[in-house]
Amino acid sequence: MNTPEALSRQTHGFHIPAGVHYLNCAFMSPLLREVEEAGIEGMRRKRTPFETAPRDFFEDSDRLRDAFASLIGAPDPERVAIVPSVSYGITTVARNLNPPRGSNVVILAEQFPSNVYPWRRLADERELVLRTVEAPVTAGSRGAAWNEALLEAIDSSTSVVAVPLYHWMDGTRFDLEEVGKRARELGAALVIDGTQSVGAVPFDLSAVQPDALVCAGYKWLLGPYSLGLAWYGSRFDGGVPLEETWTSRPDSDDFRRIGDYRNDYRPGAARYDVGERSNFILVPMQLAAIRRILAWSPEAIQEYCRSITRDALTEAVSLGVTVEDEMWRGNHLFGLRLPAGVDPARLGPELEARSISVSLRGSAIRVAPHVYNGEEDLNTLVEAIRVTLG
Ligand SMILES: Cc1ncc(COP(=O)(O)O)c(C=O)c1O
Repeated sequence: MNTPEALSRQTHGFHIPAGVHYLNCAFMSPLLREVEEAGIEGMRRKRTPFETAPRDFFEDSDRLRDAFASLIGAPDPERVAIVPSVSYGITTVARNLNPPRGSNVVILAEQFPSNVYPWRRLADERELVLRTVEAPVTAGSRGAAWNEALLEAIDSSTSVVAVPLYHWMDGTRFDLEEVGKRARELGAALVIDGTQSVGAVPFDLSAVQPDALVCAGYKWLLGPYSLGLAWYGSRFDGGVPLEETWTSRPDSDDFRRIGDYRNDYRPGAARYDVGERSNFILVPMQLAAIRRILAWSPEAIQEYCRSITRDALTEAVSLGVTVEDEMWRGNHLFGLRLPAGVDPARLGPELEARSISVSLRGSAIRVAPHVYNGEEDLNTLVEAIRVTLG
């Protein structure tokens, strides 16, 4: 793969006011101007419904499948489904796997609930054991130890491993190539919530070989709220969708024949699409956003985030702040932990005084920069920490 061209700061593409230090893409991305335009154009189209043709219910959706497939290295865009949320995409997975009674589902401690509740319900129904892997307490790298603990937790009674690539609370990275290998050896399904990574980090489907990958659109995919994307592997061929939609039927683009009911579906994962997935506002927005990410490239985004965070992190560590080894965290997403005994909530007023937006999640100050940030945003955060620690 060619090394992508280095990115420069992309303030002009967004609307972030000067003086605001928005380091919180893990909460919600700001809107790209071109994505906003696509949404407005989508809204305007409803002024003139006589210009909307049957093919318009399908073409942009299929373009969106193509774009997401390119982003994750999937050769088969027809395996991409358009979903409204991660909970929807993961519930689809849970409803279509048939884990043997008594088997276990491996998840991580404090994982985002949309990849937990569907498994809790399934565990209740099928007497499964939900095996939660805690972050070990260690003097060394917490991320390395957590990865080891995850691999150890997967055994011959594991039927599903349902995990993220990066932990939403503090950006701990999980080596899902290794996890995928172990899961395959033992016949377990690998189900990934890619929400806090895909778009900002290179993802290679052929290396990880998951059974399912689900992503919300409104964070690192720079899209609108209420639209997400999922890739479903062959385990889900022939499955039962959560909804029985008409758009998932073959030939449904021939509106004269919609009344010729049929029980079969279009090939691939279209059967798992949410109803009204042709959403004429959200789909063009998400399409414009992924096309922008593809033009920048996730490699270049990750490298840009590295370049603006490196010096500030060295400085933070000199103040007694702990940060994970670079190997086991994101450059786009990481947690800062204040010295023992200092409540992160104490940072609140200093953040507010400087218009810094980060999130406090568990024991970590979660920092999530993107290409609209610059070194000065990180330096301002370090300054707030310096003042708090006195
Ligand atoms: C890891 C992760 N997954 C999923 C979501 C969103 O889930 P849903 O689309 O079900 O609301 C979030 C939101 O913070 C998240 O951090």
